[in-house]
Amino acid sequence: MKVGARDPKLEEGSRSHYENAAYYDQTYRRRREDVDFYVDLAARHGGPILELGAGTGRASRKLALAGHEVVGIDSAEPMLEAAERHREKLPKHARERLSYALGDLLELRLGRRFPLVISPFNVFMHVYDRRELALALETVRAHLAPGGYFVFDVLVPDPEALARDPERVYRGRNVRLPPERTLHRYGERFEYDPVTQIQTVTMIFEEIDPPHRVVTQTLTHRQWFPAELEALLHYEGFEIVERFGDFERGPLDEYSESQILVTRAVTP
Ligand SMILES: C[S@@+](CC[C@H](N)C(=O)[O-])C[C@H]1O[C@@H](n2cnc3c(N)ncnc32)[C@H](O)[C@@H]1O
Repeated sequence: MKVGARDPKLEEGSRSHYENAAYYDQTYRRRREDVDFYVDLAARHGGPILELGAGTGRASRKLALAGHEVVGIDSAEPMLEAAERHREKLPKHARERLSYALGDLLELRLGRRFPLVISPFNVFMHVYDRRELALALETVRAHLAPGGYFVFDVLVPDPEALARDPERVYRGRNVRLPPERTLHRYGERFEYDPVTQIQTVTMIFEEIDPPHRVVTQTLTHRQWFPAELEALLHYEGFEIVERFGDFERGPLDEYSESQILVTRAVTP
């Protein structure tokens, strides 16, 4: 059971970036290495697969196309609606292996176990503290078949990026914002709380032509320092079987952007 209510800013920061699913798909359309990693992982470990935080189905579609049964869970309705639309366009063999459901990884109980549970692309950065991590890992444990693997990736905290000036707007390239796809000036502000280890990114979209609408999205990410995550997994009864620093299975080192953890529950 989810214990207690979350800070509304964290709720907002877990939702806002996922309200415009078409923008999400557009932004991450070139991100493929992580999906290839998970497809290779599934070939090694086998399915069926449960994906916690499936988003618009970037990974689950490729896994289904590779022949695996996949159940994708997400808490954002707009993301799941997009995932379902993409699913409908798949060839029958893949479409029939893939299903999605609305659910919160802090409390999900499907009453079914999987040899492989995955959570690709920073989903666990929306797990904000030790209590939530315990709940999330209980969910994982409740869905893992005996000897099954839980594999996920989160960013490696970057001290320089966390020290960015909270008053400054860091400009990016102009973007076309769906659904109208009108051109917007894009900027980001970053705030980092070193006590909670939560970074808030405010994405600002200013429409260049009239009516000059301004849209903002916020994204709150818990920063998980590698040794901290290793210790917490240990005390929650998970062992790290393999740990990588990139999606080509390279070592986790000072150059790594992401930490990819292949884990197993040591306590039932
Ligand atoms: C960066 S996206 C990753 C989506 C997908 N795994 C991918 O690789 O594209 C993070 C996803 O986690 C979902 N999410 C965040 N908190 C969640 C929670 N408590 N339960 C389920 N899904 C959650 C968001 O709605 C979002 O779709």
